Amino acid sequence: MIGIFDSGIGGMTVARAIEQLLPDHPLIYFGDIARTPYGPKSPETIINYSIRNTEFLLEKGAKLIIIACNSASSVATETLRQRFQVPIIEVISPAVKKAIKISKSGRIGIIGTKATVKSNVYRDKIQKREPDFEVFSMACPLLVPLVEEGWLNKRETKMIIRRYLHPLKNKQIDTLVLGCTHYPLLTDLIQARIGKKVQLIDSSIETAHYAKEYLENHPQLVPQEADASHTYYTSDSTETARKVAKRIFNRPMELIVA
Ligand code: DGL
Repeated sequence: MIGIFDSGIGGMTVARAIEQLLPDHPLIYFGDIARTPYGPKSPETIINYSIRNTEFLLEKGAKLIIIACNSASSVATETLRQRFQVPIIEVISPAVKKAIKISKSGRIGIIGTKATVKSNVYRDKIQKREPDFEVFSMACPLLVPLVEEGWLNKRETKMIIRRYLHPLKNKQIDTLVLGCTHYPLLTDLIQARIGKKVQLIDSSIETAHYAKEYLENHPQLVPQEADASHTYYTSDSTETARKVAKRIFNRPMELIVA
């Protein structure tokens, strides 16, 4: 079984991409909506939550963990890899690989939570491979609560996106990484604001491709099943979470409280 976790419903963009690419693999998701957002919290707290989330998924039978959260990937990956025996996939490296591949100018923008931007993990990973690339990061802490609240196309959301992207508009970036798994739900608004010439990278899609490749190379890890189950757990039950989840998957979603 593939185990996926996020601070809330944003990681469902990763789960959706996994369902599309690997429909015959059983999957279990945990969205920690009772504790979202993770982004403004300290690395220690995010690490503790990530350990708990991983333990939950392993108890349910996960054999591969996908950290479908950039904030947790930024600060907790090493700890989880040291602590648990199963393979752990994070969302940052696949997005970095794609950004380096498609950027022609070598000027890349990153938007993410405070935890992700403060960790500098995107800049470090990009410049480790391409020391001449310039990376411009912007923390956008209000976007996760707006997505969790279902404010995906409101005037206020557009205004906040405009404010956050303004400094990046003058940096001549040609690539912008959506460094938070909640942001794919705001793709149209972000693209409209940053301009058509800037290519957006969706870390959820890149991670799903990476997971597919990984499982093709390790087929015994999570065997395919004829009627593979896809089960979604959350740490709280709210009407808004169900509504946004339905919007992500385009089907009514049963969210089991754990
Ligand atoms: N989806 C998470 C991420 O990718 C959001 C983190 C948060 O809860 O702040 O960073």
